[in-house]
Amino acid sequence: MGGSGDVGATWALIAAAGSGERLGIDRPKAFAALGGRPLLAESLDRLERCDLVDAIVVAAPPGWEEPSILLAEELAAAKVVACVTGGATRAESVALAFAEVPEEALVVVVHDAARPLLDEAVLERLLVPLAEGYDGALPALVVADTLKRVRAGAVVETVDREGLVAAQTPQAFLAATLRRAFAGDLAEATDCASLVERAGGRVAVVDGDPRLLKVTTPADLALVESWL
Ligand code: C5P
Repeated sequence: MGGSGDVGATWALIAAAGSGERLGIDRPKAFAALGGRPLLAESLDRLERCDLVDAIVVAAPPGWEEPSILLAEELAAAKVVACVTGGATRAESVALAFAEVPEEALVVVVHDAARPLLDEAVLERLLVPLAEGYDGALPALVVADTLKRVRAGAVVETVDREGLVAAQTPQAFLAATLRRAFAGDLAEATDCASLVERAGGRVAVVDGDPRLLKVTTPADLALVESWL
């Protein structure tokens, strides 16, 4: 662990506390094997090596705090300041990690361990709108498929996809704005931007990256591994 005492302007939070039941393995998703090391290692390593990030907090799966700390040590990830036990939902896990971020921090980047192929170019794109007065920024991909609302196996309606995008992580925010957003109700927040939007914040959208695929199924894991 780092603990250099230097606060740093930009903090990255890694949400890694999900169970990942759909992967069908005997361990949490963050510890699924990807290219011979735990999934979490990929994003941890990439954030550690990114000059835009000063400090990292990991929200670990309950019972997997020690392996997470050991992993950070093995990777010589000196920016890892804390490894907290995650909560029952993603938003709670992020809130618990965020509690480790000092008041002096300027920017908070929140990333899902489930999206291992984090490219520094995405982080660069996210920081531009923050410098231009936005409260937050997220990467997103245009939705290419036709969208259907379905109930009990039958189509209810076709949803107009005009203006619809699929949000990814990392998402970047002014730390003070994110702090206010997290003071509200966290229920039903599947990403951090939704909390900031609800609190009246302006969130910019930048180009996402198809390789930031969220690993949910064994097929996703195999696909991401083929891209390593
Ligand atoms: O479950 P899902 O894949 O949508 O989770 C997105 C991210 O949030 C994952 O990286 C997962 O580890 C994290 N998460 C968490 N705490 C939870 C649930 C999910 O940190 N309780």
